[in-house]
Formats: sequence, structure tokens, C-alpha cells
Amino acid sequence: MTDHIAFSPDRHALLLLDQRFLPDREESFVCRNTADTIYALQTMVVRGAPAIGVTAAYGCYLAAREACEAGGGWKEKLEGLLTELESARPTAVNLRWGVERMRQKWRELGDISLEALLSEWLGLAETMQAEDIEINKAMGKNGAALIDDGDTVMTHCNAGALATAGYGTALGVIRAAFEQGKRIKVIANETRPFLQGARLTAYELAKEGIPVTVACDNAVGHLMKKGMVQKVVVGADRIAANGDAANKIGTYTVALAAKAHGVPFYVAAPASTFDLTLASGELIPIENRTPREVTHVGEHRITPEGVPVYNFAFDVTPAELIAGIITEKGVLTAPYTDAIRAAIGGK
Ligand code: MRU
Repeated sequence: MTDHIAFSPDRHALLLLDQRFLPDREESFVCRNTADTIYALQTMVVRGAPAIGVTAAYGCYLAAREACEAGGGWKEKLEGLLTELESARPTAVNLRWGVERMRQKWRELGDISLEALLSEWLGLAETMQAEDIEINKAMGKNGAALIDDGDTVMTHCNAGALATAGYGTALGVIRAAFEQGKRIKVIANETRPFLQGARLTAYELAKEGIPVTVACDNAVGHLMKKGMVQKVVVGADRIAANGDAANKIGTYTVALAAKAHGVPFYVAAPASTFDLTLASGELIPIENRTPREVTHVGEHRITPEGVPVYNFAFDVTPAELIAGIITEKGVLTAPYTDAIRAAIGGK
């Protein structure tokens, strides 16, 4: 699946498969300007760290088109729009990375016209999208070596094609193992409250005939205790310099259960997900989302009126619980600070 992030042939709009409605219906959401792109990111029309990064790159192009209206003051207008765009969601560092890569290109090009910048930026956004798929395939190949024939692999959230430009990070590892002929099964944790596992991971894998079973998040300990899980592979939204990894809320609990039951717990993420400016995961900003995602299932309220809820969207798994970090550059193992510096230091 690679057409869930597409640019319209007239180059006026970004077309995103609206992930809020999956698996019920496949509907496109159209972004024509920065406000549309920010809305799509914040409401999770598009989500998943690498997909957010690629969307941000196209979002920069749309912002540049919008800046045309400012005439002579286009540079200031564009800078303002880029700052708004990169702040749309706080945890996935790929958002800032995507915008920063476009800014870097602009700096390299120096004093060029807006028209020339538009053409350069569209080309770069397309390159970033294509590169992401190649990176995922490399990561998949590296990670597949860790999966044995007959394994049941647990994953949390959706780190698949939908969360990237295509193929996926954690699901890329699973796809690659399956493509190698390994007879594997997948347990997709449902991933309350947005249900990325139940809705999106199950949708992707079932579509491709990869055996998948959905389990409630609170079944994790029971499934591991019964010996029903041989490996865990998850994605990440940001990895600090010491290997601590932020991912969807609940991932830390899965890692703790995996440790208790001797199940290897792997994180799969590209170089663009590492943030070497942060010494540890304590410093990773954790998004707090609207209470409504917890208080309601669809339109139906499930908690009493007035009772507060927690809706932290991510948690941080400490590096010591991670058996390996699967990247496009190889599988990194402890001590992570050195391994990460050596493999990712120059990105
Ligand atoms: O809130 P989301 O759906 O954007 O969170 C996504 C995740 O936590 C994914 O597991 C992570 O981004 C890895 S995606 C390849």
C-alpha cells in the first residue's frame, strides 16, 4: 500500500487516505493549505511517525503555494506557516525532521524565487516519500532475521504501511519475514483509545493474507504467560540518544510483560526517528490528547459525565527493556548510546 499519501496530478492538493474511517470505508481527505494539513495531522487523518514526516514535507510545499498570496512578503509568511506546521503534534520527531529537511534545502538554494522553490520542494517531498519505502524495506530485511519460522509476533499500535510512506517499520519486519516464507502469526493489540491495532494493523495484514488475531490491550500478560507470544516488534515516535523509545501508550506495559516472560522486545525505526539532542527518554514531550477519545466510543459516552480521564498518547520504554533497535543501518544492541552514535550520529 503506497497510495495513501498522494499528490493530485494538478499539483494543487495532497490526498490522504482518511485513517479515521478505516476499516469501514476508504475515503480521501484533501489538503489544499497549511490549515488543512495541520487539521489532518491533529485529528489523525494521517498518523504514524514516518507518515507524519512525509506529510509534513508535502505540507511545506502547500505552505509555499499559500505564501504566494503574500506577494513581496512571502518569505516571512512562509516561515510562519512552517513554524505552525512543525508544531502540529509534539511527540513524533519525524514531523520536525520533515520540515527541517525542506528548510535545509531552502537554505542551500539561497536567494531563489518562490516559483523555483516550489519546484525544488515538490521534488524533494517526492524523494522523501520514495526513500521512506526503501528504508522500510531495508529495515524489514534486517529485522526479519530475528523472526523464526513458526513465531507468533505481538505488535502494538500500527507501525505499518499506513504509518509510513509504505511497507512499514514493525509491520515491515513482519512483512519481510512472511515474504521469506516464514510461517508466522501476528497478535495485534487493539490499542485503546484510537484503536490503531484493531482497525489499522488488522486491516493491513488481513488484506495481505498475513494471519492476524486482535487482542485486548489488557490480555498482553495472559497471552505471554500462556506462551502464545515469541517476539514483540513495535515502532517508535522518537528515540533518545540512550535508546529510550517513545511509542503509543501501552507499549511500556507490553515491554514490562515481555521482560517478565523472557520474550524478546524489539523496536523498529528509521534514522529519522532518532533525536540525539535528547540524552534520555525523560525529555521526550508526550502528547496529551482530547478526553473525548477515552470518554466515548464513537458517539456513545462510556464514562460518567464530569469524571476526568487521562489521555496520554505515548509512553517511553526504557532502553534496558529493548532487546534490539532495528534500523535501516542494522540491528542496534546495548550499550545503545555508543551503538546509536556510531550508526545514526551522522544520519
Ligand atoms: O498517534 P499515532 O497513531 O500517530 O502513533 C503512532 C505510533 O505510536 C506508531 O507506533 C509509531 O509512530 C511508529 S509508526 C511507523
